Amino acid sequence: MSRTLITSAIPYINGIKHLGNLVGSQLPADLYARYLRARGQEVLFLCATDEHGTPAELAAAKAGKPVAEYCAEMWAVQAELAKGFRLSFDHFGRSSSPQNHKLTQHFAGRLAEAGLISEVSEKQVYSNADGRFLPDRYIEGTCPNCGYDKARGDQCENCTKQLDPTDLIEPRSAISGSTDLEVRETKHLYLRQSTMRDKLNDWIDSKTDWPILTTSIAKKWLNDGDGLQDRGITRDLDWGIPVRRGEDDWPGMEGKVFYVWFDAPIEYIACAAEAVEEGTISDWERWWRVDKGADDVRYVQFMGKDNVPFHTLSFPATILGSGEPWKLVDYIKSFNYLNYDGGQFSTSQGRGVFMDQALEILPSDYWRWWLLSHAPETSDSEFTWEAFQQDVNKDLADVLGNFVSRITKFCRSKFGEAVPEGGTYGEQETALIADLEKRLAAYQSHMDAIDIRKAAAELRAIWVAGNEYLQSAAPWTAFKEDPDRAAAITRFALNLIPFYAGLSAPFIPDAAKAMADAMGAEVAWPTNAAMTALPAGHAFTVPEVLFAKIADEQRGEWAEKFSGVRS
Ligand code: 2FM
Ligand code: ZN
Repeated sequence: MSRTLITSAIPYINGIKHLGNLVGSQLPADLYARYLRARGQEVLFLCATDEHGTPAELAAAKAGKPVAEYCAEMWAVQAELAKGFRLSFDHFGRSSSPQNHKLTQHFAGRLAEAGLISEVSEKQVYSNADGRFLPDRYIEGTCPNCGYDKARGDQCENCTKQLDPTDLIEPRSAISGSTDLEVRETKHLYLRQSTMRDKLNDWIDSKTDWPILTTSIAKKWLNDGDGLQDRGITRDLDWGIPVRRGEDDWPGMEGKVFYVWFDAPIEYIACAAEAVEEGTISDWERWWRVDKGADDVRYVQFMGKDNVPFHTLSFPATILGSGEPWKLVDYIKSFNYLNYDGGQFSTSQGRGVFMDQALEILPSDYWRWWLLSHAPETSDSEFTWEAFQQDVNKDLADVLGNFVSRITKFCRSKFGEAVPEGGTYGEQETALIADLEKRLAAYQSHMDAIDIRKAAAELRAIWVAGNEYLQSAAPWTAFKEDPDRAAAITRFALNLIPFYAGLSAPFIPDAAKAMADAMGAEVAWPTNAAMTALPAGHAFTVPEVLFAKIADEQRGEWAEKFSGVRS
């Protein structure tokens, strides 16, 4: 049995994530994890909260709470929402865990031993009004690359360029807004990733099967030289992982912490160690150390495009630079942005629909289906309430839900609540079986390739095929003249329900479970499209309405409610 390690980019702790964040990492990662498990693979699916750095400190200050307390609370909130969206993490960790402290300090020590860390005296922005240095997001200003006026000191959200605070035009403090800033000397550690340029270039060149989005971003950073400038991996902050060289003190680095982007990806590894402590798995090195059994693991990462440089360059530089046999990523699935109704989703501006709000108005399957079937794979995509209403009503209510309801109710009224006997499958059934066998193979190959939109389109076509069959075979008409024929059609159509449940479960797990339960079956991946799983006499029940249609009034109400910004 093959094994797959799956990680989703770990969301910042500062606040509840919006649907654009969800569809750019956690949700597609969950789809793939569920699919591989259904196909019998051993999967370890990890995610965590990204708790260090300026976003956490700023958000805690805004909430008026000590940062550790704020993080613990927000972790619980995010974990609960993940459950609400049925994200099937094997462990949802925290980058502030003791395991991550230890591993991050370990990697820094190894990199130092390998001569890959330099100590640099550098100029940092100091705010006189705030009485402190202003690293990363503590400073805002205009991006020198694209002119966006809310660029942050570490990265421009608009053009994804990685920045240094001193690059910003017209900088201001994100804490006080003060422009009374000066540049002061401070000492920091730098990762000499530029020395690994050729190695990283060869490694990326060897990944011929990666999505173009991933390789094009990686190559851009490599060729611009930008992403491979040596980068500071420490900060003058209180909250974070104290700078140590393995288990030893690091003279001159007292009171400093590692940069959040240094420790965050190491949490992917630490998360597995946390899972051992929690008792979810018994051995984490089996997943992460090539010398301890991970040589047969395939490692797949999911992330938004702004995260790609860190995962194709900086984190691999950390792993390779350590000189130890850690598992490197095998495949990086990255995503463009999902926009919201003519603009961008934005956490800082509270624009769009956030995970908690989404679950307050509709069950998670509605969102999962729409978001995944519109995943921004090849270009940015857009959420509009009109499109959402139209697609949900058509795909989920009219096609899938209606099919299940119609055939189960018909059977109950004519044959009772058991799969009817009599008749045999004829030409129409044989033709549909052949069609579904082809579609099943196509669906599987799209899922194997993590081509999410194509997979969703194929699944929709599979649902449509059943609907069209039922419409044209019309057991209600056949029943009058040939009850045996009607029984065979009904048996066939009822068998489509567990078939659909198995195939649909990675997208819409709750509805899939309800369908399987109603049919007295398990949610299981079908091995063929023969439609013989439920024999004559097998009892079933008519399920509750699987998907309610979204009415125009509801759509209007929600569009209005979510048109402004969240306070
Ligand atoms: O963009 C983000 O939300 C980051 N918190 C992702 C970090 S992914 C990884 F490096 F851990
Ligand atoms: Zn920019």
